[in-house]
Amino acid sequence: MAKTLHRLIVSVVVSALAGIFFVAPAANADVSPMIVGGTRASTADYPWVVYLASTSGSQFCGGTLVKANKVVTAAHCVKGRTPASTRVVHGRDDKQSTAGTVASVTKIWVHPSYTTATAGYDVAVLTLDRNINSATLPLATPADTALYAAGNSALILGWGTTSSGGSASRYLLKANVPLTSDATCKSAYSQYSNTSMVCAGFPQGGVDTCQGDSGGPLVFGGKLIGDTSWGRGCAAAGYPGVYGRIAPYNSVISAQL
Ligand code: ARG
Repeated sequence: MAKTLHRLIVSVVVSALAGIFFVAPAANADVSPMIVGGTRASTADYPWVVYLASTSGSQFCGGTLVKANKVVTAAHCVKGRTPASTRVVHGRDDKQSTAGTVASVTKIWVHPSYTTATAGYDVAVLTLDRNINSATLPLATPADTALYAAGNSALILGWGTTSSGGSASRYLLKANVPLTSDATCKSAYSQYSNTSMVCAGFPQGGVDTCQGDSGGPLVFGGKLIGDTSWGRGCAAAGYPGVYGRIAPYNSVISAQL
């Protein structure tokens, strides 16, 4: 009896220690094989996530299908671009494949108050040349204040770089990051405004969106609560990612749908 109990305790302790060694390297962004703390994801599971590409197919931003022919993205992704030079790719996990649909863009609406990402209003709506037969993601509304509570574990998705200044991911990647409080984000960034932005990231960094993920979704509670906008580097401790806050822009965006 005593021997069995002793064995049980030993095996519990050994597996607990193994757990520590197993988990620690994965938590280190430097050895993470993908994004800044991300893992592979499939557009089959997130059918509303899309990427923006040039006419030659080169991916430069993300976006979210919010209506069969409408995509929400970041203003800084598309300001100054012509619709004719812009494509939206839907249902393609692997950028080197030909899966899914490539839609043309017929109209680009940029929030009229947008100047630079750090000043807010970093939202835009693209109109597609076709209806995409796919699930869409609802926009957060001004009533959705609970979705923005600090600590909520929000989903980020994108094909952007896997480290600051690194190269872009071939595949769609995803991760979860906790929303930060307004005070935390304001102390990191003087430009932070809770009327136009929301921040997300772990205090120690390690998981974040990065270049090329801009315009893509920040999701919580089954709604689009943010669009990837800016940050200092990527995944740095003390510098969360900054996202355009969708709820305050619900009515101007909805007017475009
Ligand atoms: N501005 C970048 C883009 O255009 C997004 C940067 C996000 N940065 C961050 N630390 N979360 O793709």
